[in-house]
Amino acid sequence: MKSRRLAGASLAAVAFSRRGRWSAFVAWALAPVLAVASPDFVRDVRPILEAHCFKCHGPEKQKSGYRLDVKAIALTGGDSGTPNIVPRLSATSPLVTFITGEVEDMKMPPKGEALAPAEIATLKA
Ligand code: HEC
Repeated sequence: MKSRRLAGASLAAVAFSRRGRWSAFVAWALAPVLAVASPDFVRDVRPILEAHCFKCHGPEKQKSGYRLDVKAIALTGGDSGTPNIVPRLSATSPLVTFITGEVEDMKMPPKGEALAPAEIATLKA
């Protein structure tokens, strides 16, 4: 959170020196948006997983020995043994490549509707 604000501030400084007042204003106006964009796990992420994934990776069933309702297991992995979620590198974490369908035969959820782009964006952030 803090580093994003700082990034926003330096962005403003760069925009100010290069393009003058207007772009500095735009960058300044965007900075709080960027700060807010960092999703909260319990508030933003968990409901998405609950809706789309808990059916097979939740309290009742654990396909591939993997459950998303227990953080320690969600972060590491199920039978694959590889970490599915890499903190702070969520955009390139295996879990995200599964939901975007980048890995053949590992599309998650395997059937039915894929996640909405906005939901994927939240998980990547
Ligand atoms: C209909 C049941 C079903 C749903 C819903 C589902 N999965 Fe899966 N998932 C599976 C099965 C079956 C496997 C094992 C696939 C394999 O190994 O070939 C698996 C494997 C995985 C793995 C690898 C686990 C390991 O071994 O480390 C991850 C990560 C994963 N799923 C994430 C998700 C996410 C995120 C969602 C929701 C967006 C989701 N899954 C929804 C059935 C499901």
